[in-house]
Amino acid sequence: MYKILAREDFSDTTFMLEVLHPMLAKAAKPGQFVIVMVNADGERIPLTIADFSAERGSVTLVIQAVGKTTREMQQLCKVGSVLYALVGPMGIPSHIGEVKKVACVGGGLGVAPVFPQARAFKQRGAFVIGIIGFRSKELIFWEDKFKSVCDELIICTDDGSAGIKGLVTDGIAQAMQAHPDIEEVLAIGPPVMMKFCAEATRPQGIKTMVSLNPIMVDGTGMCGGCRVSVGGEMKFCCVDGPDFDGHQVDFDELMRRLGRFKEEERRSLERWTSNSNCRLLQEEPSVSTHA
Ligand SMILES: Cc1cc2nc3c(=O)[nH]c(=O)nc-3n(C[C@H](O)[C@H](O)[C@H](O)COP(=O)(O)OP(=O)(O)OC[C@H]3O[C@@H](n4cnc5c(N)ncnc54)[C@H](O)[C@@H]3O)c2cc1C
Ligand code: FES
Repeated sequence: MYKILAREDFSDTTFMLEVLHPMLAKAAKPGQFVIVMVNADGERIPLTIADFSAERGSVTLVIQAVGKTTREMQQLCKVGSVLYALVGPMGIPSHIGEVKKVACVGGGLGVAPVFPQARAFKQRGAFVIGIIGFRSKELIFWEDKFKSVCDELIICTDDGSAGIKGLVTDGIAQAMQAHPDIEEVLAIGPPVMMKFCAEATRPQGIKTMVSLNPIMVDGTGMCGGCRVSVGGEMKFCCVDGPDFDGHQVDFDELMRRLGRFKEEERRSLERWTSNSNCRLLQEEPSVSTHA
């Protein structure tokens, strides 16, 4: 059982949990992920380690409530409550090479998992350009954290309410123009965003790493559920990744495979929503009395 030390809600759907797990916090490296179970009957879901502190003995997760389990977490995970299981660190840590200048790009929820890499590059002495993108100003989170590890920070919003108006690919174009000596780009976010980030750097041949998020089941390389095509070869994201060369990834296949359980996911969410409404009505009779 792993105690939740802190929670912060960044928006209606995105929230942060800091969880006590000293051994995991000591072992964690940038780019790795954990598998979480909210309760004994729960589904196992992979989540990237967005931050870790050996001193506090904690790991930080940033979660977007998109379906049954993540909405259940949003409802149940309060400060002082516990997660039933938290397994990790899993996956191969990001390669933090000796580059002089690097751009760390995060889009939406991807802003959180790119943070440990930005910090690690900074600690290795690189000039770090952070490029973080959100739909609008209200959704921005961790701006101060990024400022603390980046030499330059470009904020992009779809509606122009903060930073530059545009997508993170516009931020990449701006950074490449100002810094023709960027040696590496690291991009984390929705698959379509990572695909276009990789396309933005392809003409210049800038090494571009991405962190993939296919559907995972066991997370140990046994089920094959997380297979992705990289450079024409089949890789298992959980044990061969999650970081891969973005110029080699077949993103269209990844997006197709991510959509293949849509109907089951919809039914599972529907079942959970109606069950949890029933539970709420039983636990809080006043709700039903006044309904
Ligand atoms: C390595 C890795 C790291 C991840 N890190 C984060 C993170 O830091 N924060 C975060 O909010 N989400 C992260 N995800 C995605 C997260 O695991 C899914 O959103 C979650 O499993 C959805 O479960 P659900 O029951 O709430 O929704 P579902 O209804 O099951 O699915 C909703 C959506 O999530 C996708 N999804 C479903 N199951 C999985 C799965 N096992 N793995 C990946 N995607 C899935 C589906 O394509 C679907 O579009 C990560 C995924 C991977 C593979
Ligand atoms: S999740 Fe089963 S092989 Fe990767």
